[in-house]
Amino acid sequence: MDPLTCAIETAREAGSLLLHRVGLPLETREKGARGDLVTASDRASEALIVQRLRAAFPNAAILGEEGGASAGTSDERWIVDPLDGTTNYAHGYPLYCVSIAYEKAGEVTAAAIYAPHLGEMFAAGRGAGATLDGRPISVTDTATLADALVCTGFKPAEYERNGEYFARLSRRAQGVRRDGSAALDLAFVAAGRFEAFWEFDLRPWDIAAGALIVREAGGTVTAIDGSEFAVAKGSTLATNGCVHAEMLAALSD
Ligand code: IPD
Ligand code: CA
Ligand code: CA
Repeated sequence: MDPLTCAIETAREAGSLLLHRVGLPLETREKGARGDLVTASDRASEALIVQRLRAAFPNAAILGEEGGASAGTSDERWIVDPLDGTTNYAHGYPLYCVSIAYEKAGEVTAAAIYAPHLGEMFAAGRGAGATLDGRPISVTDTATLADALVCTGFKPAEYERNGEYFARLSRRAQGVRRDGSAALDLAFVAAGRFEAFWEFDLRPWDIAAGALIVREAGGTVTAIDGSEFAVAKGSTLATNGCVHAEMLAALSD
């Protein structure tokens, strides 16, 4: 099976698992910082994903958020968030997803983000474009921040730091959202629902798939200071390209 098909099928299966677990005991607990949650569903989803990926790609390394890291014997790596938007999920807020990225020689070449409550599958293969439920998607051509709907994310414990930026964008953009799933926020930029998304301090599993999907949809992804984007860096600014310079200016000190 090719990596893109594997990512899509596995994300869909794990998303269905999440949906079917709604209503079961969540066993929610805080992992570290206030508001950083993990539930039994995060763990069940990751266990399923790791099993499927290992069976299909036995030599690939796996980096999963809930401890499912394993070394590989090739230059392939899967980067997995088994449930992005855990707080949303725990409250029945429908914006959450499964995010799976396939990396070859340090470069993400296939990605799938599945939002089971919405029934939407976002995917991309490097050089092959981005899709939503199999149909091509692209970023908007909205030219100015004044006409843009933008989105951000931050952990509750980090509100102070992002507050100033949230205020600045509220003054300059048409609207600002904070939806609680970085992977889905990126998919929404790719699908033309947001013109931009920014967040500091993300982890590889939050952004590896979404960054490829945005780029393949014609968007631009850099770090928030304008330097080159890297999944290991975490700082992420993804836009439709047209508003990138305005976003960089708004987010500079
Ligand atoms: C979180 C979500 C959230 C973002 C946090 C992430 P999780 O991931 O993507 O939108 O603001 O930084 O940690 O914990 O729900 O997988
Ligand atoms: Ca996450
Ligand atoms: Ca997660």
